Amino acid sequence: MRLSKRLALIAGMVQSGSKVCDVGTDHGYLPVFLYKSGKCASVCATDIREKPYENARKNIEVAGISEIKLFLCDGLESITRDMADTIIIAGMGGEVISGIIERAQFLRDDTVTLIIQPTTSADKLREYLSEIGFVVVTERAVEDNGKIYSVMKCHFAGIPYPIDLTRKAVGLITPDYDEGRAYIEKQYNIALKRAEELENTDKNTFAYFESMRLSTELKKLLDRRK
Ligand SMILES: C[S@@+](CC[C@H](N)C(=O)[O-])C[C@H]1O[C@@H](n2cnc3c(N)ncnc32)[C@H](O)[C@@H]1O
Repeated sequence: MRLSKRLALIAGMVQSGSKVCDVGTDHGYLPVFLYKSGKCASVCATDIREKPYENARKNIEVAGISEIKLFLCDGLESITRDMADTIIIAGMGGEVISGIIERAQFLRDDTVTLIIQPTTSADKLREYLSEIGFVVVTERAVEDNGKIYSVMKCHFAGIPYPIDLTRKAVGLITPDYDEGRAYIEKQYNIALKRAEELENTDKNTFAYFESMRLSTELKKLLDRRK
């Protein structure tokens, strides 16, 4: 079974011997791959909707695996700490991911690893993580199907920390590989466009200065690499 580049990056961040739960699994490709790789001590998965849950159930059955437990529930509602030490939440908006983390208090434990991949609002998710004290230890950009995503690996430290505008926009992504550079360029173009739009309408606003400052900082980051 061949995973997409995005799912392969996520799978690569899973430590050998871990007990994994894939939240919002949909097709179930990741749990099947992780189980078959022999890398994990156990694998379980959840989905909130019937159709994806059924989809995953069928794919797990076709793969001939009876050991993957599948739950129809919101986020980690049916999962307890003893069932998983590594939680994957991928392919959802940043706000949905924050909500799932917020409702699962057992994640506030420094022995739990979170691997998360937002499709939108990655900046809001990074801000949320900093406010509740989840430290991002690894972050990589990956291009898949014409889109660029960030995948973050985090641990709970329990101490909130401030993040600046640049960190909020691009996290730990660096411009020294093609996808990292593409991710930063995308955020740079968004900030620049916003600054240009505001220049014509609301030039004396905080939002304008913030967009200007962010685009300048991201340009510096990109130029440092040249
Ligand atoms: C776009 S799919 C991503 C599938 C897979 N995780 C991936 O990255 O390829 C999003 C899935 O998350 C599920 N989902 C959305 N909110 C959820 C929640 N609160 N709890 C569990 N699953 C959720 C959806 O039903 C859907 O199957």
